[in-house]
Amino acid sequence: MTLEQEIAKRRTFGIISHPDAGKTTLTEKLLLFGGAIQKAGAVKSSKIKDHARSDWMEIEKQRGISVATSVMGFNYKDIKINLLDTPGHQDFAEDTYRTLTAVDSVIMVVDCVKGVEIQTEKLMEVCRMRNTPVLCFINKLDREGQDPFDLLDEIEAKLKIKVHPLSWPISMGKTFKGVYSLYEKSLKLFTPSKTTVEEAIEISDINDPVLDQYIGESYAIKLREDVELLNGVYPELDVKDYMDGKVAPVFFGSAVNNFGVKELLDTFIRLAPPPLIRETTTREVKPEEKKFTGFIFKIHANMDPKHRNRIAFLRVCSGKFERGNNYLHVRNDKSIRFSNATAFMAQDRETVDEAWPGDIVGLFDTGNLKIGDTLTEGEKMLYTGIPSFSPEIFKEVINKDAMKTKQLEKGLLQLMEEGVAQLFTYQLGKKKVVGTVGALQFEVIQFRLKEEYGATCEFAPQNIYKACWISSKDDKKLAEFIASKQRHIALDKDDKLVFMAESKAWLQMVQDNFPEINFHFTSEFKD
Ligand code: G4P
Repeated sequence: MTLEQEIAKRRTFGIISHPDAGKTTLTEKLLLFGGAIQKAGAVKSSKIKDHARSDWMEIEKQRGISVATSVMGFNYKDIKINLLDTPGHQDFAEDTYRTLTAVDSVIMVVDCVKGVEIQTEKLMEVCRMRNTPVLCFINKLDREGQDPFDLLDEIEAKLKIKVHPLSWPISMGKTFKGVYSLYEKSLKLFTPSKTTVEEAIEISDINDPVLDQYIGESYAIKLREDVELLNGVYPELDVKDYMDGKVAPVFFGSAVNNFGVKELLDTFIRLAPPPLIRETTTREVKPEEKKFTGFIFKIHANMDPKHRNRIAFLRVCSGKFERGNNYLHVRNDKSIRFSNATAFMAQDRETVDEAWPGDIVGLFDTGNLKIGDTLTEGEKMLYTGIPSFSPEIFKEVINKDAMKTKQLEKGLLQLMEEGVAQLFTYQLGKKKVVGTVGALQFEVIQFRLKEEYGATCEFAPQNIYKACWISSKDDKKLAEFIASKQRHIALDKDDKLVFMAESKAWLQMVQDNFPEINFHFTSEFKD
């Protein structure tokens, strides 16, 4: 097969949802369709449930297990699908943000009872930053949920994306009859079942009396009214709007009952984009360029503390990756040879000799690679779009064992490279402050520093609201600002300047007082 054909048959995507909306269930059904797993229940181990805080060890263990399920590759109708798993636990949201930088599209799952929840809003913001195409699956129609029109309004309002229903539910809960496919013009009747797949009954004219026979007169009347309304509000779907991340096609179904999942998957392989052009610091890279390029979006530590090796997840962006070749590690300007590379098929990892754009390769790493690193065949450029976001919780690291200072520093650095948290080093006094999205990470860091590096530390809470990356077109003004706010200026892992704002109101005041300074909530920005 040619490079172009390999690219055309690949779809790399992630599923985003609020915990409990049905992401794991949907993943499992998709894998069943792809023949990647044989029975239901096989994916559960990847799931990180909302454990009590004391259960964080359990969560870490599950995170370890989930290496195998972090990328699930399977074939469906000649399409190679790479599904990237995202942790559901909100304390690991940063992991999810980064994973989203490696996908070409996403499927968003919304619970029809709960509607749009906060976690989905945050994830959608990340999708919007890169205009990622989104398909929406409204789940749990077998339960009494919100009115479908209200759900669509809520998605548009809260997620700031236009919607376009491609199927429409006929009642819900106990009286759920099924869905009418608006683009196929067919009826799919619902039967609660975990295994059977819905069949499509062609009803090209919604006024055909045969509809009444299938769903009963009153539901048929309601459906006809709904469809008339929908046809008025939503003209033909413009696929370009979907590709540009402006419109999300919407499906309704019930993942646990395997209802609507096949319809979703069939539409997904038809609509969702193959690997796309990506931005670098110097130019745009097309996937069909002959030379290999890719970037690291995730690093996972080996769970065995005696071996400090890690798996780096590489997204191939262009050309062909070949195991055993030498590639340029652009950040260090050094050539690295990867003799150990794994592909992720279903839930297995297997050695891979070659990989194509859209594929994810697991690279065995002994500490050279960092999240965001670019690998090329020699060209000096860096993939962009893998930013850090301002953390939510900040604590100072206090060394409790002066004999182990070196170990503490090394351990902290390595854990930060893995993306466990972010480290900010103050310019004055060299105070080290760790920032995280959730409280859990502090326990994880403390435990791992002790176990893996023999270092003991404590954390002192800091009164910080946000870390803002700062820039200015006027170097003199920037220098003045730094001089006047020295106590609040720190450097991030890449030595970028960060202003540590103590409160929202104070940040606002500082912004007003220094209009020449730009404050950014992510580490990547254009002035
Ligand atoms: P998540 O990964 O997004 O966190 O959600 P997950 O798939 O684990 O689903 C959360 C719960 O919702 C599960 O129930 C699951 O069975 C249920 N669920 C998923 N899809 C549907 C659906 O279409 N209809 C209904 N009624 N429920 C659905 P659980 O009790 O938490 O787990 P389990 O005991 O069923 O495994």
